[in-house]
Amino acid sequence: MATTTWTRRHILSLIDLTLGEYETVLQTAASFREVLSSGRTKKVPALQGQVVANMFFEPSTRTRSSFELAAKRLSADILNFSPGTSSLTKGETILDTAKTYLAMGADIMVIRHQQAGVPQAIATEMDRLNSGVTILNAGDGLHQHPSQALLDLFTLTSVLDPDNPRLELLEGKKIAIVGDILHSRVARSNIYSLTAAGAKVHLAAPATLLPKAFLQMVAQKHQDKLFLHWELNPALQDADFVMTLRLQKERMTANFIPSLREYHQLFGITRDRLKLCNPNVRVLHPGPTNRGVEITSDLMDDPHLSLIPNQVASGVATRMALLYLIGISDR
Ligand code: NCD
Repeated sequence: MATTTWTRRHILSLIDLTLGEYETVLQTAASFREVLSSGRTKKVPALQGQVVANMFFEPSTRTRSSFELAAKRLSADILNFSPGTSSLTKGETILDTAKTYLAMGADIMVIRHQQAGVPQAIATEMDRLNSGVTILNAGDGLHQHPSQALLDLFTLTSVLDPDNPRLELLEGKKIAIVGDILHSRVARSNIYSLTAAGAKVHLAAPATLLPKAFLQMVAQKHQDKLFLHWELNPALQDADFVMTLRLQKERMTANFIPSLREYHQLFGITRDRLKLCNPNVRVLHPGPTNRGVEITSDLMDDPHLSLIPNQVASGVATRMALLYLIGISDR
């Protein structure tokens, strides 16, 4: 297990994660991957007796299941919450729901909400109450999705060196992020982690889904690592990795694209288009996917090109690392 001490109480955003913290997450995730692949004993007692509340106020398949399995593998007790069947439908506020879980003894709250800032608001309240509860943001509105970007980082660095995934492996690599960037908290978190690792991040989308303001996201020192394109080919040219994103129809309040067919013609990732990339290119997608829209079905299922199953597997090890690190931090 990584020896570096972890002092961050909540993981809400990647904006200020330090290089040391990224490395600690990667090393810890690598140790947990070993645990997960070791014969029959896939469990460790690291969080025995701790209570993890999985509070998903917005639909989710993989993130929710992945956090649940990660917490179980660490021997924690889990409380699962779904808004449709909860007292939210009776008018309870989100903060009151959080306080209910606190009263039941929750130690870690994993929170997803359709509005940006909810995990932060709950963290502030938990700190005000001196509760010692730690918060993990599992995706808030259009803001951040730290665990997804960290599992992507673990996936990418593990492809480059399975035995020792580390940041420097991504130095100078070209990574294209293609699709509905405007509505993507995954892209927003990945921009921080990948530029911090020294990768060259090329964003590509129709102008309606990629405002120029994205250039201001990164600090001055990382501005030579972020590039915007309103057409696909310059982003794909010699790319080492291509990360495709779902068209988030449920978050679109206006008509951002003429039609799905036209979008696919201009920005859909196909086997043919990948010929522009580095010959060893690999493709990622955080899921869920619109097959045949942002990526072709055969590409998704191609074990040589697609890292989608690796991302899902990395998700459990990475979330174990995050739960473990904040679970053992000195609160
Ligand atoms: C993403 C999300 O919820 O932001 N999905 C995920 O967590 N795997 C991306 C998306 O919804 O398209």
